[in-house]
Amino acid sequence: MCMDTIECILTRRSIRKYTDRPVAADVVKQLLQAAMAAPSSANEQPWQFVVIKDRTILSRVSKIHTFSYMLDQAALAILVCEDPTFEVNAGRGPLDCAAATMNILLAAHALGLGAVWVGIFPVQERIEKTRKLLDIPEHVIPIALVSLGYADEKPHGEDRFREERVHYDRWTDAALP
Ligand SMILES: Cc1cc2nc3c(=O)[nH]c(=O)nc-3n(C[C@H](O)[C@H](O)[C@H](O)COP(=O)(O)O)c2cc1C
Repeated sequence: MCMDTIECILTRRSIRKYTDRPVAADVVKQLLQAAMAAPSSANEQPWQFVVIKDRTILSRVSKIHTFSYMLDQAALAILVCEDPTFEVNAGRGPLDCAAATMNILLAAHALGLGAVWVGIFPVQERIEKTRKLLDIPEHVIPIALVSLGYADEKPHGEDRFREERVHYDRWTDAALP
């Protein structure tokens, strides 16, 4: 499946319930290609990815993170990590990795999968526990985990446009031109 970009953005929702249907290797590759196509500061691409398919490991991750119960059902998860050794502009890594994470979510939706962003960074305890559980080197920072599978729920897109949050030319209270 592939859809119009604006439709994809406006209809994407977090999916936390999945069917048993496995996700093919070429689909996982497309998700990773989408992640690595993301913009990054000075094109530094300071990311590394851990693709987790092992049920035991998925279940262990769900135990160390309070809001990651959906991993117990997920077909797989992709952990997006920041590797500062690739950074040109210090401090931009988490932003670069957030852009990569968002690309995975949108690509998943466009490909007919369901996904949810499970936050790791900046919670130090989650960073350390994830690093330890997955043998991640000390200098690498786990930023976000994306839980993935074929959706077993279908939430509607939400209209979140708020005109009052938009300011034209300069900050105005009315936020209207
Ligand atoms: C930085 C970040 C961290 C998040 N962490 C979690 C999480 O740990 N567990 C979870 O179930 N959802 C998590 N979410 C998903 C949000 O709850 C979700 O995006 C939000 O409620 C809006 O719903 P929607 O994605 O369906 O539009 C996270 C989202 C972001 C952007």
